[in-house]
Amino acid sequence: MAMQILACLNGELMPVEEAKVPVWDRGFTFGDAIYEVFRLYHGRIWLEKEHLARLKRSLDEMEFPEVDLNVLMDRVKRTISASGVGHGTAYIQVTRGVAARAHAFPKPAVPPTEVIIVRPYDDTATSGLRETGVAVITQPDIRWGRCDVKSTNLLGNVIALEHAQRAGGYEAVLVDRDGYVTEATHSSILWFRDGELQGTPEGPEILPGTKRHFLLKLAPEAGLKFEPTLITLDQLKQCDEVLLIGTTIEVLPVNTIDGKPVGSGKPGPIARKLQAAYKTAVERWLEGAEG
Ligand SMILES: Cc1ncc(COP(=O)(O)O)c(C=O)c1O
Repeated sequence: MAMQILACLNGELMPVEEAKVPVWDRGFTFGDAIYEVFRLYHGRIWLEKEHLARLKRSLDEMEFPEVDLNVLMDRVKRTISASGVGHGTAYIQVTRGVAARAHAFPKPAVPPTEVIIVRPYDDTATSGLRETGVAVITQPDIRWGRCDVKSTNLLGNVIALEHAQRAGGYEAVLVDRDGYVTEATHSSILWFRDGELQGTPEGPEILPGTKRHFLLKLAPEAGLKFEPTLITLDQLKQCDEVLLIGTTIEVLPVNTIDGKPVGSGKPGPIARKLQAAYKTAVERWLEGAEG
């Protein structure tokens, strides 16, 4: 079957170019929307339960009208099969619906707008970066106070990544007003120091990353102890290893921060161990042994 970028808009399948949303959609006017990105391996959804739990939590936290997640997932699966995509992503966005622009929620509530977009993801470039490692650039974290909610209010992330890329970085590592590292613009961050794997404690400052969470469950098997810790930028720069974690990057070693080498300046043994553990876990799941 020919591969197509397909959209499913409020239950209706169409080529993505034909999917149109009214300008009064609150996703457009206010960024009043929640989203998720699933990774597809061989057409199967990786960590589906975890993504759905986070989607539900984001919707509930923002007091969205009830969304039937079974219907949503049927539509996601229908879109995946119709697209013919094996290795790819499924993007899901739910907005608070269409209503003339006024800040407070529409009363009575209007039906949410729901968009699913399935497209292929070519991992070639990223898999090269997993081998070589990447440079990151630090940026001030100017995002809103509820980064634990996966909302499309991403202007703070967009600005930070644009500035980091102009400075030659692959990702921007965000630093809050008190000098503590939070996360990256579209990745979680973990680091290794004092013989421990560490990461920012979960809270409103960071998105609870599904891949970070999964990796931390694998850590003990890989002989690693995890400790949630706050870290300043100066301390991060002194770590043995720093890693970016996420849905498409998986486990990506950081070689330099603002041009200064981290540890040896090359991917280290912890990165390699976690990359191997992650790869094995995906393979085992694909073989049907798990999930
Ligand atoms: C701000 C932010 N942090 C972390 C992540 C990683 O989350 P996940 O592992 O669920 O992909 C993302 C993913 O897009 C993100 O946007």
